[in-house]
Amino acid sequence: MLSILNQAAANTMPQKYKEMSEEELKGRAAAIKEKLGRKLFILGHHYQKDEVIQFADATGDSLQLAQVAAKQKDAEFIVFCGVHFMAETADILAETHQKVILPDMRAGCSMADMANINQTERAWEKLQQIFGDTMLPLTYVNSTAEIKAFVGRNGGATVTSSNAKKMVEWAFAQKELLFFLPDQHLGRNTAYDIGIPLEQMAVWDPIAEKLEFEGNVKDVKVILWKGHCSVHENFTVANVQDVRKQHPDMNIIVHPECRREVVGLSDYAGSTKYIIDKITEAPAGSKWAIGTEMNLVKRLINQHSDKEIISLNPHMCPCLTMNRIDLPHLVWALESVDQGKVINQITVPQQIAAEAVQALQRMF
Ligand code: 13P
Ligand code: SF4
Repeated sequence: MLSILNQAAANTMPQKYKEMSEEELKGRAAAIKEKLGRKLFILGHHYQKDEVIQFADATGDSLQLAQVAAKQKDAEFIVFCGVHFMAETADILAETHQKVILPDMRAGCSMADMANINQTERAWEKLQQIFGDTMLPLTYVNSTAEIKAFVGRNGGATVTSSNAKKMVEWAFAQKELLFFLPDQHLGRNTAYDIGIPLEQMAVWDPIAEKLEFEGNVKDVKVILWKGHCSVHENFTVANVQDVRKQHPDMNIIVHPECRREVVGLSDYAGSTKYIIDKITEAPAGSKWAIGTEMNLVKRLINQHSDKEIISLNPHMCPCLTMNRIDLPHLVWALESVDQGKVINQITVPQQIAAEAVQALQRMF
């Protein structure tokens, strides 16, 4: 199988799309959507740029998009405007006649890349030597299909930031210990929320292949993979303190991929959908500092001019890989579909898909 980078090199967008005006690109995208009708379905994650989102048939956070993707049985082509792991999930849930397309193969996720299957298998073996058969693995959907398959075959499930609390509670109903991949912050924030003290959480370092824990391992309840989101880690305690000082009447709301200290000092924390709902329902005149991805924060600022909204980090944090998907790449992907030569198709091998789907189904 080609690596993502090799596939990207083999599938570089022709120069002509870079040279087209925005009007021309918009016209082309609209025309192909009209022509292909129900054969085509475009999904857009909330972190995508507006120029892309305007053509999405459905928008949502990771959970909503996975649910919508699973229901699209008519569409022959699912164009996923998001990142690689999301398109993989859509392919795992798709029927065999459906093709899932990622407009730019370079749209990966640095967090998902922090846990590869070899590291995970080795960690599991070493952790079993310490903890025996007491652990249940859960993986954030922001992980590769291979990690989802590992979790599926070991009795675990996927989680998203929208359902992490329920899933962690479910995990503890099955086993004594939780092994949470690959985002240590979502794992820590969620476990803390259900009452597990920080002193009972260990961290697995996949590079040093070592368990980081001070104390007696008998007390460990949660093992967190040492991964993080490079966007949400950019929100700091200093950012919170600055906002509190400069805007004492401002509400601070953050995504649970932020560090525990930041979540702890904020007024509200929740998934992308939670943040959108909270801002939408907030009264006119209310003030908000938001700790999440830049495209979404900008969109909320534009949609809610009756509220004062800023980014928690004044040097806004874009997700660079999400931003790889732009209008030229979308039009390139759509035209390829129209011309019968699909580019950038995401295909998860059958064996991996069969195990990964178990993890996804336990979540659904
Ligand atoms: P959610 O869409 O689950 O909130 O996750 C945020 C994210 O980082 C997606 O990559
Ligand atoms: Fe990955 Fe973070 Fe970007 Fe989401 S925002 S795709 S978790 S790097």
